[in-house]
Parts: sequence; C-alpha cells; structure tokens
Amino acid sequence: MTVMIYKNANLNGKEMKSFAVENGRFAAFGEFSALEKQYPQAKIEDLKGRITACPFADAHIHLDYVYTASLPAKATASGTLFEAIDNWSEAKDRLTTEEIKKRAYIAVKQQIACGVQYVRTHVDVTDPKLTALKAMLELKEEVRDYMTLQIVAFPQEGFFAYKGGAELVEEALKMGADVVGGIPHFEFTREDGVASVKKGFELAMKYDKLLDFHCDETDDDQSRFVESIAALTYFNGMQGRSAASHTCAMGSYNNAYAFKMMSKFKKAGLNFIVCPTENCYLQGRYDSYPKRRGISRVDELTKNGLNVSFAQDSISDPWYPLGNGNLMHQLDFGLHLSHMMSIPEIEDSLKFVTDNGARTMCIKDYGFKCGNSANFVVLDADNTVDAVRNTSETVLSVREGREIMRKEPAKVLTSYSF
Ligand code: FE2
Repeated sequence: MTVMIYKNANLNGKEMKSFAVENGRFAAFGEFSALEKQYPQAKIEDLKGRITACPFADAHIHLDYVYTASLPAKATASGTLFEAIDNWSEAKDRLTTEEIKKRAYIAVKQQIACGVQYVRTHVDVTDPKLTALKAMLELKEEVRDYMTLQIVAFPQEGFFAYKGGAELVEEALKMGADVVGGIPHFEFTREDGVASVKKGFELAMKYDKLLDFHCDETDDDQSRFVESIAALTYFNGMQGRSAASHTCAMGSYNNAYAFKMMSKFKKAGLNFIVCPTENCYLQGRYDSYPKRRGISRVDELTKNGLNVSFAQDSISDPWYPLGNGNLMHQLDFGLHLSHMMSIPEIEDSLKFVTDNGARTMCIKDYGFKCGNSANFVVLDADNTVDAVRNTSETVLSVREGREIMRKEPAKVLTSYSF
C-alpha cells in the first residue's frame, strides 16, 4: 500500500507537524524532511498549516428519529420535551425498518460531510417489534467503513412507565445494542426513576455494556437522578464507562448541592454529554422572564476535570425542528451558552466535539499516535479561534488512511474593486 505523507499539519490547532500514514495507520510524526527520507516513495499532500484534528465524535443523536418533525399528527406546539414524547408515541407504530434506514442514511451522509466519524445513537426500544433497533443494527454494519456507530438501547417511554420497557431494553442488548440507556426523569415517580437507573446498571453489568442515561432533562431543580448514576457508577467500578446526557437541571441546582456533587462526579469518573441547541430550545419553556439557558454547568464540570462533550441530539424531529449534523455549530452554541469565550478557552475547545466525545464512547484507537488508525479531518482554518468564529468547514476526512470525503470550500466572486 502506498505511504502518504501529510506535511504542514496543524495538529488539533496546537502543534505544527508532518506525519506518514502506512497500511491505514499513523506510521510516523516529525519534520517533513526526515519523513521524506524515511519514505522516499511516498505520495505527499501539503495541508498548508490548516487544522488537522481527530475526527468529530457525536456522542448523542437519535438517528431513528431524523426528519420526522412532521410525522406526528400533532405538532409539538409547546416546544417541550414531554409533549414531543407523547406525540412521538402516537406516530412511531407506523414506521418500517426500510423507511427508518432511508432517513438515517441522509443524516449519516450529512455527518460524514461534516467530518463526523464516531456516532452514538440512542434508539427507541419501547416498541414490541423493535423496528428501529433492527434498522440501526443493519445500518451500523453497512456504514462501518465510514463511521463507528454505537447503539444505545434507549427506552424513550421509560423502563417502567412503558409496560415491558425493561424487558425490551434487555432484548435489545441481546440483539447487539452496545449501551444501556434510560430516562429516569420520565418515569412516574422518583422511586421508579431510581429503580430504572439501578436496573440499567444491573443489565450493563450482566451483558458487559456501557451506560448512557438521558438524565434530568428538565428545569426542575429537584430532578437529581444524576446523583444515583454517579453513585452506581462509583460503587460498581464503572468509572469512565457511564455517561449522563443532558443534566439540564444542573443549571438550576443551588450552588451548595452542585458543589457537593462535583467531587462525587470526579470519584465516579462520570462522562457528561451536553446538547446545546436542543436544550436551549426545549428548556426554559415554563419560565416567563428571566428564561433559563437550559444546559448543564459545562464550565464548572470542565474546571473540575470532568469529561464533557457537545452533541447534536436531533435533526428535524418532534423534539427539535432544525439541526444538520455539523458539530462546529454545536461548538459555537455550546461555548456561547456556557460563557466559555475567553481566547484560551476557545483555543482549547475542539476537544468538546472530538476527543471528549470519543472518550465518552470509550474509543481506544483514537488520536494522533503511531499505530492508531489513521483517522483525521482537516478544517478550512489555520487556527482554532478562526475555525470556531467561522464555523469552518471540514474539507478532508480520512479514515484508516482512506479518503472518505473531500470538499472544495466555496469561492466568493465579487464585483467590488477596493
Ligand atoms: Fe436525546
């Protein structure tokens, strides 16, 4: 196989290097002159100092829901999570495996065009036919050369609030789902919510799976299932293998409680996934003014050394009408909503949509290291601040040394002469 040398790569916007790729893996990093001597037959591409980043990792999306915004008979007039779940419940019976896959493919292609190579999709398993799960298991195999897809067995209508929900989650794990999901704040009672978290851990331990709960996706400051998830992560030795998605209520917790929980989160090594556009749309709906921003404490979690990633969550579904799979858009929103806008914070921000998501997904073979799969993307920017400011496009995506997407940036033609 031909060796490729990529010269003048601005690795993660932090370090100018050249590197060689051989047999689909990173073979060497260093000065171009040395690499050229080491691999005299190599093909060469000059990346011209553009940001060369680890591929984007979207740790939270619902690929079985994409482009269904108009499917339920009733539109989600209130813009709330709970009305959307009710409307979805009425619509989902009519779906077929073929139709779900067809829609998901459109989203996957959009994600690939945006440099996304790692995706964790929550799949609704509160359906006795498990139609969406079957579609996603097929999709996972079919896109493998372009994308690493992780499937969450997600009981959208609850482990217990939906009759047979827990059994369906278990069935989904047996069929090949990678991650146990849950939605404790949607169960009927606080006790059921805690029981659903316990059941989730029991299943994860039984089948050796990861965990990722939709957790406290509400402005209710009394919604505190994140503490149960942290405790069970810690006591079951699942540090690094479990995640709390959303945790919007943390934006409403009093500081004394939030401060106490930070040290517990650290002990638990809990991963946090924040969906900036989705939750600033869904939350604050019961506020008049002032209106809450709806997202978790990204700045405090990050300062405390916790792993936080930004994710898309929805593309045009009953929960959120927009979305396009571009994580640079989520990064832009996430930094604004989190008040993380100092220059050093922006310079260090690509991690929210790359490394941190991959870490949550427990991807081992990730990063610029000799021997790792040569998976990377090139952005149309030579520094991170410009990349974020312009939501720069991904112009090249390479996976296992193979070019899977190349894009020509738009040319602007003008008539002015100044
Ligand atoms: Fe979600």
